[in-house]
Amino acid sequence: MQIRKLAYAMGAEILGVDITRPLDAETIRAIRTAWMDNLVLLIRGQVLTREQHVAFSRYFGDLEIHPNRYNRRADYPELYVVTNKVVDGKPSDTRNVGRSWHSDGIYRLKPYLGSLLYSHEIPPVGGNTLFTNMYMAYETLSPKLRDILDQLSCINDRSAAENHSNVSADHLAERFKLTPPVVNPVVRVHPETGRKSLYVAPNVTICFEGMTPAESRPLLQFLFDHAVKQEFIYRHTWQVHDLLMWDNRCTMHLAPPDFDTSQPRYMERTTVTGTPLGRLLEVS
Ligand code: OGA
Ligand code: MN
Repeated sequence: MQIRKLAYAMGAEILGVDITRPLDAETIRAIRTAWMDNLVLLIRGQVLTREQHVAFSRYFGDLEIHPNRYNRRADYPELYVVTNKVVDGKPSDTRNVGRSWHSDGIYRLKPYLGSLLYSHEIPPVGGNTLFTNMYMAYETLSPKLRDILDQLSCINDRSAAENHSNVSADHLAERFKLTPPVVNPVVRVHPETGRKSLYVAPNVTICFEGMTPAESRPLLQFLFDHAVKQEFIYRHTWQVHDLLMWDNRCTMHLAPPDFDTSQPRYMERTTVTGTPLGRLLEVS
């Protein structure tokens, strides 16, 4: 197995491993170590069946069945579909997924450990995905600000992030029930590496616990801007049959509309279950 770095900030391509076949424990350990070291891994040019995508993902933990039935495949419920194609005669609810910086599941009580996105169809140009290194975002803050942030919790509310025009009404009602606001630490200690990372996301993180949104906004906005500086970023240009796996505990990602959206883009994602983190917001 060879590891080829993709960018200064993070990212590595894994070469010399055939992931269509069962892997031995040593290989799985080596891939996991490379993942924890590089945050985002690329495995390129391997034609995976849905079974193989799911089976490879399972080496890294239990898989989520996406709680929202609208965007998962009926035949493979572990597969979440991200596409701008028409699904069941309607424009897909996921056609604008990821248009602002986020970490998958940051608004959940058990935020997702990782995501493994496989490209089936990509537009001729663009349709990139960008990643930012949230360890770097934290480590490059002043020591005093890090001390302050270490003490803070924040309120994450998925409903705040919704682009309501994208999503059908019944789907939206279901989402509100599935994802009530949670209280999470602003700085997360990574359960495997022990490193601290900044763990907030624009649109989802609405305020610090114990402060109003107006009081929180200036510092939050500073953090959102700081977290996506060019030097923390890896920008992925997709090829068909790329498997890209990222660690949601120490990265954010973004899918800009940098392509002709009349061209089909079709991706499927498995999601690795994480560990419990925060608590539900008590509303008095
Ligand atoms: C995701 C996501 C971005 C993309 O699958 O979680 O944000 O580029 N996708 O499709
Ligand atoms: Mn995402």
